[in-house]
Amino acid sequence: MSHSVTLPSTKDIIELERRHRLPGGQSMTDLAGIVVDRAVNAEVWDRDGKRYIDFFTGVGVSNIGHSHPAFLEQLTTQLSRCAVGTFYTDVRSRYFALLAAQLPEQLGEIHMFSTGSEAVEAAVKLARAATGKHEIVSFWGGFHGKTQGALSLHGGPRKHRSGPFPPGSHQVPYADCYHCPLQLEHPECGQRCVDLAEQSIENGSVGDLAAVIVEPVQGTNGNIIPPEGYLRRLRQLADRHGALLILDEVITGFGRTGALFAFEHDPGIAPDVVVLGKAMASGVPASAIVSRSGLVEGTSFAVPSAAASTFGGNPLASAASLATLRVLLDERLPERAHELGKSVSDRLSAWREEFPFVGNADNIGLMIGVELMDPATRLPLPKGITRRLFQELMARGVLAMAYDSRIRLYPPLSIPTHHLEEGMAAFEGAFRAMAPVISRL
Ligand SMILES: Cc1ncc(COP(=O)(O)O)c(C=O)c1O
Repeated sequence: MSHSVTLPSTKDIIELERRHRLPGGQSMTDLAGIVVDRAVNAEVWDRDGKRYIDFFTGVGVSNIGHSHPAFLEQLTTQLSRCAVGTFYTDVRSRYFALLAAQLPEQLGEIHMFSTGSEAVEAAVKLARAATGKHEIVSFWGGFHGKTQGALSLHGGPRKHRSGPFPPGSHQVPYADCYHCPLQLEHPECGQRCVDLAEQSIENGSVGDLAAVIVEPVQGTNGNIIPPEGYLRRLRQLADRHGALLILDEVITGFGRTGALFAFEHDPGIAPDVVVLGKAMASGVPASAIVSRSGLVEGTSFAVPSAAASTFGGNPLASAASLATLRVLLDERLPERAHELGKSVSDRLSAWREEFPFVGNADNIGLMIGVELMDPATRLPLPKGITRRLFQELMARGVLAMAYDSRIRLYPPLSIPTHHLEEGMAAFEGAFRAMAPVISRL
């Protein structure tokens, strides 16, 4: 008697998941409509055997590439020993030592969590405990996660209809030069937006500022790169108010911008707290805050168990974080991102020349943002058009956050050059296919 097993089809799997799923998940899941089977470095295969170049990487999670052999080996070894946390472990001690060795000496204290949002919440709690004050300044267009406290820091419409939020949160303009809030030009502007932020704090705050939290490059807002010296100005602003400077490096960290951490691009900057996540453990949920030594001593934050969480820093997360950092350092992937970023910059200049609907297009390392606009009105391209572009890219075998007018690309830092070229060429093909449609708008 033969037993034939019928594997569920792509359609069956999607239908089954949708039947049980609470709405509100990542929009790209349904737009792509694929069932992922496996992934290696910068390539992903779906269940029907179609292969894609991955410029999405789970929103910048796979900096070392999918299924890196050293990562797999260390993770499976740890899994077979112990996955559950709380006690001291050799692997976490080695991770702390290796991470601390990459950071300025004063950033010596690390605490691990599971998600970026959770680490942001902890950073805010730390700032409040350390300063005894409660107000937090964040930025227009800034994004720090979707838990209630993190969402209160968001500077945009994502938080609409989700309140009320914890009090004391102020949003001030960011140095988004292409869309300057003051309609000035850099560098003649002298970064007037920082003065405006200061005025806004003077007028809106009750004089109890605990922290300024900022993304060194705004990821969710479209990979918006502020001008040189901006973070230094924010350091001074925070100092004037006796507030901590928290750098949210959840998306910029671990080599994405061509340095291990984005704040390294500005040698004059000394943050009090750095928030890490996403690429930290290459897909195993892990995040962290790293703080200036001694900041929380004797405060409510430091009470035993006050900052602990169930999965934070467990042996599996620690092994994944350690393996990731080792690969990043051994293979010099931040340097590689910097090098590859140069060829990306050239390509983006060519796009701005050739395609009238490409507006701001900029990159730092392999953190790449491309804004699409109606050439006649200079308004963002409508969703209907950008979603067609997304489909054009899917058809050409590229996965990318290209479904709205601010395209964000996060290829692995380990992407082979020819795969990067292939993906960028697919963009050019998709742009050319969409050009007649856009010109008829
Ligand atoms: C800068 C930044 N901070 C925090 C978060 C939240 O991280 P998570 O989704 O892991 O909670 C994100 C997520 O996109 C982010 O980009």
